[in-house]
Amino acid sequence: MKRRMLGASALVALTASLAGGAISQAEAPRRAAVYTADGKLEFPKDYRTWVFLSSGVDMTYSDAAMAMAANNHAFDNVFVDRAAHDAFQKTGTWPDGSVFMLEVRRGETNGSINRRGQFQTGVLGREAHVKDKRFKSGWAFFGFSGEGPGREIPQTSDCNQCHEKHAAVDTTFVQFYPTLQAAAQANKTFSAAYLAAEKGAVK
Ligand code: HEC
Repeated sequence: MKRRMLGASALVALTASLAGGAISQAEAPRRAAVYTADGKLEFPKDYRTWVFLSSGVDMTYSDAAMAMAANNHAFDNVFVDRAAHDAFQKTGTWPDGSVFMLEVRRGETNGSINRRGQFQTGVLGREAHVKDKRFKSGWAFFGFSGEGPGREIPQTSDCNQCHEKHAAVDTTFVQFYPTLQAAAQANKTFSAAYLAAEKGAVK
């Protein structure tokens, strides 16, 4: 009797998981932006399975990078959730609910057989950039410490100002993400300020 019951419950579990798979494929994908009751952003634990956009090495646009000693190196790994990425490839714009993760890792030269250049090691920090109507400007930045929920950075921060002023498409730095540029070009979504600055640079 016990064996039969186990068999039956295994069958129920299998049927449920098959049905679950079919349902989740038919439904719209789960939004990448999930908030806690007090407005923090849940740490997106699966961001490493999202679409990889770029690894900047030693980019020095932030105070943190500038403050680093000459021998310290860092990589910025940028990821975007897959639904947002797929929409961008079609439209050249980001849908509401898009989430970007910036993962900063220490660069190291000395290790194993390496003699020159750098490879990535431990995480130095993680930040998110989220498009959502619930924020005044339509976008917000979040800083994480560890893998707990991230706190919103005020809308007036340096983060918002630099991204609004210098980022090529809708406050995101598409000028540094080579696999997105064709879609922005085709849909003419590069910002006027970015295009003007580029024109100036060519002269
Ligand atoms: C002076 C300009 C500047 C400031 C200030 C700045 N950023 Fe950025 N940010 C950039 C650049 C440039 C990139 C592209 C990085 C790359 O290519 O690796 C970027 C990329 C990002 C991304 C990846 C998605 C995107 O929007 O392109 C996130 C997330 C991000 N920054 C968060 C932050 C947060 C949080 C702050 C404030 C604590 C901040 N940034 C402040 C220039 C800036």
